[in-house]
Amino acid sequence: MTHRIVLLPGDGIGPEVVDAALTVLRAAAARFDLLFAFDVYPVGAAALRAGLPPLPPETERAALASDAVFLGAVGSPEFDKSPRSERPETGLLQLRRSLGVYANLRPAKVWPGLGVRGPFVPDHVRGLDLLIVRELLGGLYFGEPRSFDWGEGTAVNTLRYSRDEVQRVARVAFGLARSRGRRLTSVDKANVLETSLLWRHVVDDVAAEFPDVEHDHMLVDACAMSLVLEPRRFDVLLTENLFGDILSDEAGALVGSLGLLPSASLGDGPALYEPVHGSAPALAGRDVANPVGAMASAAMLLRHTLGHHEAADAVEAAIGAQIESGGVTMDLAAPGVEPLGCQAFAAAVAEKVGSGLR
Ligand code: IPM
Ligand code: MN
Repeated sequence: MTHRIVLLPGDGIGPEVVDAALTVLRAAAARFDLLFAFDVYPVGAAALRAGLPPLPPETERAALASDAVFLGAVGSPEFDKSPRSERPETGLLQLRRSLGVYANLRPAKVWPGLGVRGPFVPDHVRGLDLLIVRELLGGLYFGEPRSFDWGEGTAVNTLRYSRDEVQRVARVAFGLARSRGRRLTSVDKANVLETSLLWRHVVDDVAAEFPDVEHDHMLVDACAMSLVLEPRRFDVLLTENLFGDILSDEAGALVGSLGLLPSASLGDGPALYEPVHGSAPALAGRDVANPVGAMASAAMLLRHTLGHHEAADAVEAAIGAQIESGGVTMDLAAPGVEPLGCQAFAAAVAEKVGSGLR
């Protein structure tokens, strides 16, 4: 059976990290006898520069007909002032909506052996392993009406959620909590927002279907603080679109680099896999990007689309072994240690996948 994967390298470091993920996916295919067919399509600024819309119709058609979509990153400063319909990010949002991927899984864990850099001392975050489940198709990102009127000096976005939208993502999150630490924290702003009141009620209803999962509610401001102060108290965090966007970058800082975070976006059709980081224009074309987010997204593809847990575990184990060896990219290298380039790091991980090193 051939798994048809649509590749959307996109912008900035997107193409480099997609290449790296492919190197690792090919190694997994060789070791576990998997067949992939990869097709590359434009999205984002790469499409706009070719005179196409940010999500070209052929790209959308191919994505919908695929078994899974793998995306690098979208975004480019040259389109910062363009109208919304001609922005790279619009292509990604249309793709998410078109695929109907409402549940965005963003696991964040501290890899053993990684001397965490930045403000978080290793003792504070060691063993941290959390999963953010972000609602991906509702809230301020998609709510209507929306408008921007420079002349009048007003702009509008609409925060709207329906019971069904909350229910379906909550069920995914509770289901995943069941396979982990069985603790779920739902994040909202129920002291101010009606949408959050609805969110809270629906989450309580869904919780009744999962009596084996402990759950509580937290206001998003308190949660942002708590993530910094005592990150290991959390297991699964369930939240709406914008809060999830913000908290997942915070989680990236906690684990040492945003470049480490993978994601899977699930719905009823083909799933979408992408690293959480953006296009990072300043790093593009220099072979310095951290491909772990993309490679771990490939592991999620093996797990969630193929149901091949052994292959997914092998990729994650190889990433872990490589990180533990100390050979890491610029963002993670200890002071005085020569960092590996993006492609060299990928080759090292691929070799570990191939040799079954754990
Ligand atoms: C993310 C990104 C996107 C988002 C942008 C690029 C539209 O920040 O996936 O977190 O806000 O969802
Ligand atoms: Mn983001």
